[in-house]
Amino acid sequence: MDNNQIRALIGKMTPEEKAGQLTQLPTRLFGNNESELTGTDNRLRITDEEKWLAGSLLGRLDANSMRHIQKENMSRSRLGIPMMFMTDIIHGYRTIFPVPLALSCSFDTSLAWRCARCSAEEGSAAGYQVTFSPMVDLVRDPRWGRVMESFGEDSKLSCEFGRAMVQGYQGNDLKNPSTLAACAKHFVGYGAAEGGRDYNQADLSDYTLYNQYFPSFQGCIVNNVKLVMAAFESVNGIPATANKRFLKKILREELGFNGIIISDWNALPELICHGVAENEKDAAELALKSGIQIEMASDIIFKHIRLILEENPDLEKILDEAVEKVLTLKAELGLFEDPYRGVSRENEQKTLISIEKRRAALIAAQESSVLLKNEGILPLKKDCPIVLTGPYADSGDILGPWSVDGRIEDAVSVLEGLKNRGGKIIDVIQTGSENIAPEMTESILSSAKQADIVLLTLGEPVSWSGEAGSRSLIEIPKDQCKLLQKLHKNGVKTVVLLFNGRPLDLRSILPWADAILEMWFPGTEGGNAAADLVYGNVNPSGHLTMSFPYGSGQIPVYYNRGRTGRPAEYLQSEPRYKSQYLDIPNEPLYSFGFGMSYTEYCVRKNGEIKKKGNGNYVIPIYVSNIGNMDGKIVVQIYIHKIKSIISRPVQELVTWEKILLKAGEERKIEIVLNSDVWNYWIPGEGWTKDIGDYIITASTDSQHKDVKWELTVK
Ligand code: IFM
Repeated sequence: MDNNQIRALIGKMTPEEKAGQLTQLPTRLFGNNESELTGTDNRLRITDEEKWLAGSLLGRLDANSMRHIQKENMSRSRLGIPMMFMTDIIHGYRTIFPVPLALSCSFDTSLAWRCARCSAEEGSAAGYQVTFSPMVDLVRDPRWGRVMESFGEDSKLSCEFGRAMVQGYQGNDLKNPSTLAACAKHFVGYGAAEGGRDYNQADLSDYTLYNQYFPSFQGCIVNNVKLVMAAFESVNGIPATANKRFLKKILREELGFNGIIISDWNALPELICHGVAENEKDAAELALKSGIQIEMASDIIFKHIRLILEENPDLEKILDEAVEKVLTLKAELGLFEDPYRGVSRENEQKTLISIEKRRAALIAAQESSVLLKNEGILPLKKDCPIVLTGPYADSGDILGPWSVDGRIEDAVSVLEGLKNRGGKIIDVIQTGSENIAPEMTESILSSAKQADIVLLTLGEPVSWSGEAGSRSLIEIPKDQCKLLQKLHKNGVKTVVLLFNGRPLDLRSILPWADAILEMWFPGTEGGNAAADLVYGNVNPSGHLTMSFPYGSGQIPVYYNRGRTGRPAEYLQSEPRYKSQYLDIPNEPLYSFGFGMSYTEYCVRKNGEIKKKGNGNYVIPIYVSNIGNMDGKIVVQIYIHKIKSIISRPVQELVTWEKILLKAGEERKIEIVLNSDVWNYWIPGEGWTKDIGDYIITASTDSQHKDVKWELTVK
């Protein structure tokens, strides 16, 4: 169906049919009782007859139910308009990959592409055409439960991972039935919720928005993302759902977004609670005028459209534009030609959780985990007698929040992983997460006498992160910490495997663990990946993309912090009047970019930075693996602007490279700095090439700055 045909179709539609296309209803209204409820169970007044006018559905589905609903829809639709089916396929559909925060620690965008591709194959086979992913919200507050869905605290990383995911989901042609249209979310500043409390307001200057928050959306838009979801919260006093400047001026005009703007769940009626709309009609009108084009999980545009148009005839144009966007996406997805998009039960069964997808999930989990501490104890030998314990010892509940159709019974637990890799496990004691009885601790201690090592799985229960999973303290449950401390006191060597969806305050385990391997929520193949890392079949190569604070009182703490006139690090001899805490250090416990390996790397200069004809710069470096195990180094390039019109952050990551180095190998590499890395958004001036003197550093984390160059950018 081409544009003219779409416009002709719109010309035949009644106001209710048009508003229906803008209405997205939960699948539970269509007989799917398993519908995943992610928001308040709002009052929908749409009748059983009217609901068939809805343009799209969200919620649980499978190939059969999709065919069933679409068939009924097509038989009822006066104009033969197919429905679209959407859901949150965030880190896999049935095969579950590591949570996005973990995935970003791989510093490998091709892995993100692969995970998104597999997710699209599975999700589309189950009957979906759209996923509400990637979430490219920048995050600086680990109290917010949704940090696990993000790519961390750096805007460049979020941008590159967001782009890769969009490419992976959408491919080159949405007519290919194994693709999904992607939705970048949440525009904008949702990750900046005050105090880390979900749905809370945010206050963000343009300086911060342009330099930190918009680039990740821009990356997705450049890669032709089809939808953008407006955030729930209000930013600078205006709810994002009703923010005309954000949605029209910035998203459309400045960032060039041409697809559909969808609200979040029930966000339109919530404008009344925000205090910017008097009643539902008012809220619907405000959202439409502000740029919302699909109303998720509520029906107030539909219910009030007649009155809204009577009072504002001009809104018909806005309504028609929105309908056109929705129908255009349906046409791009090929739904007018085949409303089922080739979906069949047979193909669904063939596609879900195949061997290749498990293989991709295994690699992703291996590359995402981060070695935080190792007192020479890892990797273990296969014949090392182990006692395995803790809440994740033999649990498949390691998929993490938003696992759609992921099944615990498909997941490989740590125990299964160790067995699969031929480990010598002499005892397994599965504990609870919050309550570990003293008798259980005693039996773990007694078993430990027969073992060389206790492998202790610790962490947060899955429900403690994800949407509405905010916490004021980000600590590991006390009983888990006590167990570790008791083991240490009894002279037991302990390797900790951490399972969690956010950076944690690790002070209550750090001194007592002999090694800590951050597994995050690693997904379906988590147990196999853990075993591969523990036994050194794979050398850990993940690096943190979000700082682990020293404690909650340090939040927000992030590597690219702003400058101060009294930096603690330069005022060593001044005891008090400098930017510091009196009770804790300024530095996080583990900073952005940090990650250990079983080998050792060295980064050295190989001459001066050179400018190329195309305006790019090239940084010549030697990288070497000076240990005796092959491994992947992540070389991170940071810039520091010495002086500017404004005070720029102390450092900014501009690019990185992940390179496999054989034991003992040295390699010459050249890292390219694109000419756009000098661009900065300066208040009053807009995007500007910030010329002048820079310090450029190359390192394997954000804290070590030994390898540096001075560069004058003209
Ligand atoms: O996509 C999500 C969004 O991120 C949070 N609220 C619910 C939506 C749909 O499930």
